[in-house]
Amino acid sequence: MSTFSAQQVLSVHHWNDTLFSFRTTRDPGLRFINGQFVMIGLAQEERRPLTRAYSIASANHDEYLEFLSIKVPDGPLTSKLQHLAVGDEIVVSRKPTGTLVLRDLRPGRNLYLLSTGTGLAPFISLIQDPETYERFEKVVLIHGVRWQRDLAYSDFISRDLPQHEFFADMVRNQLIYYPTVTREPFRNQGRITELVNSGRLFSDIGLPPLDPARDRAMLCGSPAMLKDCCQLLDSRGFEVSPHIGAQGDYVIERAFVEK
Ligand code: A2P
Repeated sequence: MSTFSAQQVLSVHHWNDTLFSFRTTRDPGLRFINGQFVMIGLAQEERRPLTRAYSIASANHDEYLEFLSIKVPDGPLTSKLQHLAVGDEIVVSRKPTGTLVLRDLRPGRNLYLLSTGTGLAPFISLIQDPETYERFEKVVLIHGVRWQRDLAYSDFISRDLPQHEFFADMVRNQLIYYPTVTREPFRNQGRITELVNSGRLFSDIGLPPLDPARDRAMLCGSPAMLKDCCQLLDSRGFEVSPHIGAQGDYVIERAFVEK
């Protein structure tokens, strides 16, 4: 059997000039854990498909797959993907993988999902997973972006999910959404690292400062963001999960920004 299956584009949503998401059909045989990624891309004649890693933004109970992508004008893949239209075909690998999985976190009380840019994608999947709310009392989703217009999924998170037929109660009682913008005025401003260090985040959301005795985290963002956030957690005594299948106080994945 081939490594990839062909799937059809069901819908495309352009958030702004640089960011879009799309849904595709899902191979009925594709199983994944919320938070994982797959390789997706475009078939090429006489050559291997052109693919990149993309976190799955939909949940494993959805019939479709959803992906969030940036548009890079001269990026080999995204320059083409951004023109996807309903009915087009993409290829999707049959073997999802990744580190952002709940089972690799030790038990805890509060779960912090720290993301910048397209690093939000795996957390859109995870905030639609009942297990997230069973395992943690509070789930704090932080999305750091440059501009307000980059806050993809903000209406989905703050308006649609609290009305969701299955998740409404869990989301209303347990999910705290904290979008933050760095390059223009917004109700929350500043980098995630600054907001944690200054304590502003915690006074805003009404939770105590980060403590490895109680808190767990998942990180997804640019290499620079990951480096600084890891440092921040390490200095507070958090232990990273060393590899898939081993528990830690936090797990990390780089946002597959590209290209
Ligand atoms: P800033 O505007 O101060 O660079 P990018 O699009 O470059 O990935 O950035 C997405 C968001 O992540 C921006 O708000 C950016 O802030 C922020 N950011 C960039 N680098 C870091 C970092 N090292 N730690 C925390 N946030 C970061």
